[in-house]
Amino acid sequence: MQGFLLAHESPAEMSQKPEANGLRRGRGSFQQKTIRDRLPMGSPYSASQTLRYNDQMKILAIETSCDETAISIIEGSGDIYSPNFNVLGNALVSQIDVHKEFGGVYPNLARREHARNLIPMLIKALKDSGLYKEKNISSVEIDPMVKSRLEEMLIKEPELLKTFLKEIPKIEIPDIDLIAVTEGPGLAPALWVGLNFADGLREVWSKPTVPINHMEGHIWSSTTNGEGITFPSIALLVSGGHTELIYVKGFGDFKLIGKTRDDAIGEAYDKVARLLGLPYPGGPQISRLAETHRKSGKKLGFSFTEPMLNSDDFDFSYSGLKTAVLYKLKEFPHITDEIREEFARAFEEAAVGVLISKTRKAIDTFEAKSLIVGGGVIANGYLRSRLTELISEYGNLDLKLPDHELATDNAIMIGIAAWLKAMKNPELLNTEEKFLLRARGNLSF
Ligand code: KG4
Ligand code: ZN
Repeated sequence: MQGFLLAHESPAEMSQKPEANGLRRGRGSFQQKTIRDRLPMGSPYSASQTLRYNDQMKILAIETSCDETAISIIEGSGDIYSPNFNVLGNALVSQIDVHKEFGGVYPNLARREHARNLIPMLIKALKDSGLYKEKNISSVEIDPMVKSRLEEMLIKEPELLKTFLKEIPKIEIPDIDLIAVTEGPGLAPALWVGLNFADGLREVWSKPTVPINHMEGHIWSSTTNGEGITFPSIALLVSGGHTELIYVKGFGDFKLIGKTRDDAIGEAYDKVARLLGLPYPGGPQISRLAETHRKSGKKLGFSFTEPMLNSDDFDFSYSGLKTAVLYKLKEFPHITDEIREEFARAFEEAAVGVLISKTRKAIDTFEAKSLIVGGGVIANGYLRSRLTELISEYGNLDLKLPDHELATDNAIMIGIAAWLKAMKNPELLNTEEKFLLRARGNLSF
């Protein structure tokens, strides 16, 4: 997982990561915002906090839906058809090492890790962006009313509450226009930590705070500087938690047209890797072995049926394919590296083959002008080459693929989705209404 922060890095070891997907870093060319109504710590959230911004909007985005704790501060400008995003600060810690021994993500462990990592990530992102300022007073007292509200909000996260009460009152309210936080889909215990944390920040900073659909983030993760999306579009989302086809008619206009009925494709890669005795996450391992087999020029001795290939819909199913691998493996009492390579390739070709066929069907059915792909499985070289082949079947179909840093879970994409949402609905920026921040594990569109 070569995101902004590598799996083995601890928050303390974080370093600046390179530019992602053409997004610019740094503050140089941008003017400061003119938000005047900074309310003192503890003031109730109020509509009188009218936000003013030129054409730039700074968003603090929080992502905790699975096993990455990520906080980014992005600045969006331009119009929604030719947006410009500037990453001011980005902090991400992956929990991969923590979950490795379980062979998958363990929700309560994810929640504990998020609770530990959120404040260091916030401080890192604020410092990166130059928005971190410590208050110029030696002891900062928090309003007792605010404190009791925070105690209520973070009742289930005692460790986070403790650090929150210690660290946050020391920080000057940063110059941001909006807080965005992932509400789902994802692991509910993991989502709750991020949402409660955002609620706490809203309480002490009095900033408008919006819940964001994680999948919307993945969809817009390939929206790079100046490059809009040609609609209608089909979005294919492939990760450890999702295998979905979405019809995207326009900004904010989505229709889920197909999804996996059981395991997600990334999950299937991980499970098959486990059957082959390979470590978690198995996707990259399977991908490497399959590629070795392909390059060797050897023929496959067996193959697997592409699941649900001929079903009359856009749905997927990967658990049967995993079981087929399990049964086939029983025919091989001694597994050698060569056999592993053959299994990896046979599995990959069935898993990716059906993905391509259903995506083609969706493009044709909805007369799409572009194909957006998102999710961690995009790292797969075979999938990428099959997608390129697919695109070449059409005269003028635009393929939008995010860079690796933006394909896997991150908070930048949550910020981008929030910016698009706020551009479409400016009232989000000075609403009197407090959005309900609630984990929605099975959220769709
Ligand atoms: O989007 P992501 O980082 O996290 C979520 O699941 O939300 O995706 C992680 C998934 C894992 O299942 C991992 O095995 C898979 O993406 N993956 C791959 C490859 N790299 C990561 N699957 C196939 N081939 C790869 N090269
Ligand atoms: Zn994701």
